[in-house]
Amino acid sequence: MTQEIKIPFVDLYPQYEELQSEIDMAIKDIITRSDFITGPTVEKFERTICQYTGAEDCASIGSGTNALVCALKALGIGPGDHVMTVGHTFVSTTEAIVNVGATPLFVDIDEFYHLDTLDMRKVTGSKEFALPELKAILFVDLYGQTPDIDKINAFAQEYNLKVIQDAAQSFGAEYKGKKVGSLVDITCFSFNPVKNLGAMGDAGAVTGTKKLIDKVRMYRDHGRKTKFEYDKVGYNARIDNLQAVVIQAKLKKIDEWLDKKREICRRYTKELKDVVICPKEAPWSKHSYYVYVIETPEGTRDQLQSFLRVKGIQTNIHYKFPTHKTTAFDNGTVLPRTEYICDNILSLPCYHTLPEHHQDYIIKAIKEFYAN
Ligand SMILES: Cc1ncc(COP(=O)(O)O)c(C=O)c1O
Repeated sequence: MTQEIKIPFVDLYPQYEELQSEIDMAIKDIITRSDFITGPTVEKFERTICQYTGAEDCASIGSGTNALVCALKALGIGPGDHVMTVGHTFVSTTEAIVNVGATPLFVDIDEFYHLDTLDMRKVTGSKEFALPELKAILFVDLYGQTPDIDKINAFAQEYNLKVIQDAAQSFGAEYKGKKVGSLVDITCFSFNPVKNLGAMGDAGAVTGTKKLIDKVRMYRDHGRKTKFEYDKVGYNARIDNLQAVVIQAKLKKIDEWLDKKREICRRYTKELKDVVICPKEAPWSKHSYYVYVIETPEGTRDQLQSFLRVKGIQTNIHYKFPTHKTTAFDNGTVLPRTEYICDNILSLPCYHTLPEHHQDYIIKAIKEFYAN
């Protein structure tokens, strides 16, 4: 009898297995010392993130979403301000802008699925658009690589804008040989369990200059200046120390894991490039392949997904609806490329422990679907 194949979209347990004794010991140590929030554990963790990313300073934080909110607050973005961003992202990016009271100004995406740097100019040239209200650009390293950051920074300088990088999906990626984390004013990471570097719950970090990160520290901790002095209206957005030690243990493995993932993704591209549109690696980028996203021939995505499901292959969509087309954030913006892409993309299973015979099986199934 042949065994039924089941390939999950993500498989997190092997990460724990590789580091089990270290993670178990670190968790036990936290419990034994009742060291659950703030203090030296968190400070050590923040220093490690600085060493890895090359950032001047780091504030750990409760989630990637908290990271975005506190970064915007630290930059002084609030009611009346406009923030240039994309609709092709996870909802947190847009949600953070709206939650600080600012207005998202959506622009379309380019061939790498990133904020289109040419479109930035179109927006500033439009009649309805009031330039003085534009205060910042919040771009997203969607799928694990960065846009052309030099172009975004140059544009920001021209119009005196702050730049925020939503690097929730790109921990460990590089831009022109430099690790993501110190390339713009402020960078926001997520350590959600499925991210490149995943906790065992919610967690995140913000990196930037010491001056800005001190402000983030204040916002993440109730706007506190000292124990009993509250200078700002803040949040309870601190990291849980159990998460900090889990992430710290996994950090040792991140480059090895990302390299293995890159190999699998390049293999997918080699095998599938004549059947579907495969992700393009930008010339400036060392891609971290948070997810491997194919663009299917128009109108075939849903049938392909069903076909793969029947074959035991779990896939996903990042994302089915752009944020500017969801009820909460729909402001009538039309972004033709973003909307087309959301209707035609599909994410394939891709993790460093995906066995070669499962890779073969996935490739064969997609080829079979398009051969018929
Ligand atoms: C692009 C993007 N931004 C922000 C977030 C928010 O991160 P978190 O889930 O840690 O709040 C995520 C992930 O969930 C994301 O993919």
